[in-house]
Amino acid sequence: MMIAIASFILLFLLLLQTVNTTNFTIKEATIDDIQSAFHQNKLTSKHLVQFYISEIHKLNPIYKAVIEVNPDALLQAQKADQERKDNAPKSRFRLHGIPVLVKDNIATKDKLNTTAGSYALLKSMVPRDAGVVKKLREQGAIILGKASLSEWAHFRSFNAPSGWNARAKQAVNPYGASLDPCGSSTGSAISVATNMVTVSLGTETDGSILCPSSANSIVGIKPTLGLTSRAGVVPISPRQDTVGPMCRTVRDAVYVLDAIVGFDKNDAVATRRASKYIPKGGYLKHLKSGGLKGKRLGLMRAYPSFGFANDTKTLNKFEKHFDILRRNGAILIENLEITNFKSIISMFNGETLALEAEFKLALNAYLKQLVASPVRSLADVIAFNKKHAGLEMIKEYSQDLFLEAEKTNGIGKLENEAILNLAKASKYGFEKLMMDNKLDALVTPYSDGSTPLAIGGYPGISVPAGYDENEGPYGICFGGLKGSEPTLIEIAYGFEQATKFRKPPPIKNQL
Ligand SMILES: *[C@@H]1O[C@H](CO)[C@@H](O)[C@H](O)[C@H]1NC(C)=O
Ligand SMILES: *[C@@H]1O[C@H](CO)[C@@H](O)[C@H](O)[C@H]1NC(C)=O
Ligand SMILES: *[C@@H]1O[C@H](CO)[C@@H](O)[C@H](O)[C@H]1NC(C)=O
Repeated sequence: MMIAIASFILLFLLLLQTVNTTNFTIKEATIDDIQSAFHQNKLTSKHLVQFYISEIHKLNPIYKAVIEVNPDALLQAQKADQERKDNAPKSRFRLHGIPVLVKDNIATKDKLNTTAGSYALLKSMVPRDAGVVKKLREQGAIILGKASLSEWAHFRSFNAPSGWNARAKQAVNPYGASLDPCGSSTGSAISVATNMVTVSLGTETDGSILCPSSANSIVGIKPTLGLTSRAGVVPISPRQDTVGPMCRTVRDAVYVLDAIVGFDKNDAVATRRASKYIPKGGYLKHLKSGGLKGKRLGLMRAYPSFGFANDTKTLNKFEKHFDILRRNGAILIENLEITNFKSIISMFNGETLALEAEFKLALNAYLKQLVASPVRSLADVIAFNKKHAGLEMIKEYSQDLFLEAEKTNGIGKLENEAILNLAKASKYGFEKLMMDNKLDALVTPYSDGSTPLAIGGYPGISVPAGYDENEGPYGICFGGLKGSEPTLIEIAYGFEQATKFRKPPPIKNQL
């Protein structure tokens, strides 16, 4: 009898073990999956990092999503494994032992270079980790490496293709080589989509998180300006730049957001101002079922610059998404009007003018604070590109934006006027629209609504929304007022849970 019971228990344990070991795969694993595998001793961070590095070796020659792998990633993984074994307090963080790729314009003070994809910054030395990287490390995340990007976050030339930079060359959309991978956080999106890493960080000035997230079928959060520190990020404009999570699920993106938000003395004004938006206990509680119930979502049919191409094809394509939102309890508010729409839209035109002047100031300041650098000013970068144009190492895309930016001379009368207009356009356009109609979010197809969000420092979340006839992915975007991340997360999570549109890229594209 005793033997029978003992062997029954043994059999049961064996069975349990087989079940446990056969049902975990790293591909498509979420942070929760990985943490639970860690705790059931089915996986170590070391194994996880080894897996990703081997995937990078296999896949990156095709997709060009990663610029550098951290030579210390395995060491960091072993350290995390030890901390978990010792039950160290640090090991309780959600991102503990989780590999993260950061866009190559985000500084890391380690063996990795921080170059924004340009050879001009290859021998530069940053003074310290970027604010967001410091937070990641404090919580035990593993910096796996640097993700590729449109060079200089696409502020070298608007003519350069998305996802191209001199160092990694042209990134490729894993859903089809003929599809635009979008930018500028191209590698951050592709590496996550193809399971070369668990999660990544991207940056956005106007569309650079939302667009590649949409194009590569992942979730991207573009946070309220200042919610995440921009210190140590190769800048375009402190008025618009923001750093955010790029992940396969809303839940993973929320874990990453929770890890990187908050005050940073090196970006003091903006991070102090935005820290009031961080909910007590973090964003996790907003991942709740029924998140769409009662949410008022604005839908701007026929207002191209607020996200809707006034074309029947786009509208038809998204009808089913609107129905899903309604069926899950959201209230769609249509036929919205923006008073003086034409004059508000014309104010958007000042964006490039403002960005050019801000870029020169901010970039020069960034280059000056580097410990070492072959270039110390925008003028140096332009000279570098001229000198190396035509060489194999620097493909000769123009640097027209650099040249325009170099002509600026601080924030003068014109720039001030442009910046003032952008603020007015936000106040009397997006903000008024949201408040007059008591909207929780504006819903827009793809990342078409990125500009109103960008110029006002408002947040947005892109969620996978399906695939075209040609298998090209597309997303849907929910944008809101400053600090509305809790509401946007509820909406995005509600939509994701109701649809589960995301599927990994087809294997055939990987061969
Ligand atoms: C694997 O199976 C176990 C036992 O059935 C379950 O508790 C666990 O959540 C599963 N893990 C995954 C990643 O599916
Ligand atoms: C950083 O760049 C240098 C070249 O200046 C290179 O030797 C080194 O391998 C790079 N670091 C990594 C981690 O790739
Ligand atoms: C949008 O398109 C419809 C149909 O083509 C047209 O009637 C309407 O005037 C357009 N709206 C705007 C604001 O252009």
